[in-house]
Amino acid sequence: MSYPKDFLWGGATAAYQCEGAWNEDGKGLGEWDVFCHESPLNINHVTGDVSCDFYHKYKEYIDLMAAEKCNTYRFSISWARIIPNGVGEVNQKGIDFYNRVIDYCLEKGLEPNVTLFHYDLPQKIALKDGFANRENIDAFVEYAKVCFKAFGDRVKLWVTINEPKYYAYCSNVVGNYPPNHKQDFERYFNVVYNEALATARVVKAYRDMKLDGKIGVVHDNSNVDVAPYAKERELIKLRGDMFYNSLTLDTALKGMIPSSLILFLREMGVDSSFMKFEDAIDFANGKVDFLGLNVYNRFYLTDFSEGETEIYHNNLGAKSKMKEGIKLKNMFESANDPTTKRNLWGREIYPKCMYDTLKEIKENYGDIPIYITENGHGQYETPDENGYVDDQDRIDMMNGYIEYMYKAMEEGCNVKGYYAWSPMDLYSWVNGYEKRYGLIRVDFDDPNLKLIPKKSYYWFKDVIENYQNNLADK
Ligand code: BG6
Repeated sequence: MSYPKDFLWGGATAAYQCEGAWNEDGKGLGEWDVFCHESPLNINHVTGDVSCDFYHKYKEYIDLMAAEKCNTYRFSISWARIIPNGVGEVNQKGIDFYNRVIDYCLEKGLEPNVTLFHYDLPQKIALKDGFANRENIDAFVEYAKVCFKAFGDRVKLWVTINEPKYYAYCSNVVGNYPPNHKQDFERYFNVVYNEALATARVVKAYRDMKLDGKIGVVHDNSNVDVAPYAKERELIKLRGDMFYNSLTLDTALKGMIPSSLILFLREMGVDSSFMKFEDAIDFANGKVDFLGLNVYNRFYLTDFSEGETEIYHNNLGAKSKMKEGIKLKNMFESANDPTTKRNLWGREIYPKCMYDTLKEIKENYGDIPIYITENGHGQYETPDENGYVDDQDRIDMMNGYIEYMYKAMEEGCNVKGYYAWSPMDLYSWVNGYEKRYGLIRVDFDDPNLKLIPKKSYYWFKDVIENYQNNLADK
């Protein structure tokens, strides 16, 4: 069993979800600024304008993470803070901000793990069709190079894109994320494909700059489990993987598009002309150094029953009874496992998916280093009169996932780190601020945004210390 000595323990955030300062110091307008301010589809009527105010309070947050014994912090860079118009002029004040954050992380002993794109397109790029437009890949590569040049001397862990599939799914299939296309499967695959190409090209650009760090992509874990009663078990597994996983994983880890993709797209009735023959070279030259996995749930599927395609998604939490899932006409549909708990947003809580996905990736893709780049639990919370939250549910749930991670490591899976989502409460896309994930409570009603560590903060500190102590005993 390998318990790596240099295992990274930390927390993960994304720029739009915590920075605030949405229009300060030359930052350009982002797609989420516009969506949250203007769209009737922003059903919970909240914005990330201030959020945790990480932009001004980053030292407080980093100090708390350091005191929790974390040795890493995963965060993303806002493209529009660095290049306000998406292309062209660089905003030095944006560079200065991330320099301050990176330097302070290093001062406090936290290895920065930096994501270039976590859902937040500059509005100017969004208006030119975002990742649905191949031309914007060049813009992304240029932005990445600016970041590598500015921060690459100190940042040794880079992520190209956070959850290419889930971002494309919400923006083009569910329609809850901007630009709010619904059931547009052609656009969905086109975006996932272009994000894969963008990853490959950014990886190549990074290598060409001869920097000495590692670069990867973060995939939202989507391991497909087929219900035991399904009739077409193998076919559902194949189709589920093609729909959720293979395009991102095969391109990033094998350097090629999945061999049965074209056939699958034909079955789906999707025009595949967005794929270009010559891209094969970019994919072959752009394999990642590591894989990040955001582990929350599995995809539990069975045979398609009847009717039309339907998407089930719950951004209303307890105000809705909707269970997350999909019915994909003539392909498959979500199965309901009554023995598996769900959170109040209708998503399964299934710790074993941590183990299943790690084993499956090892089997299909070999020993690529893996970081669990997110794992956590969203819930409503009521603090006591001192603002303290006893979040035993979160502890139990995350503990379950961590135990399964250890089990997979004991069986040889090459896991190099674990990041809690999230170090502190922050904006949860469309769900707003009631859905809390933090190990530290942020009192959003307090003008100073008072920070109060929850029970889970102290639990996580113990987890990290126990890991270190166990290593010392060996
Ligand atoms: C991950 C994202 O998919 O899940 C995060 O990378 C996100 O940005 C997290 O916040 C939890 O999802 P949600 O929708 O509950 O905030």
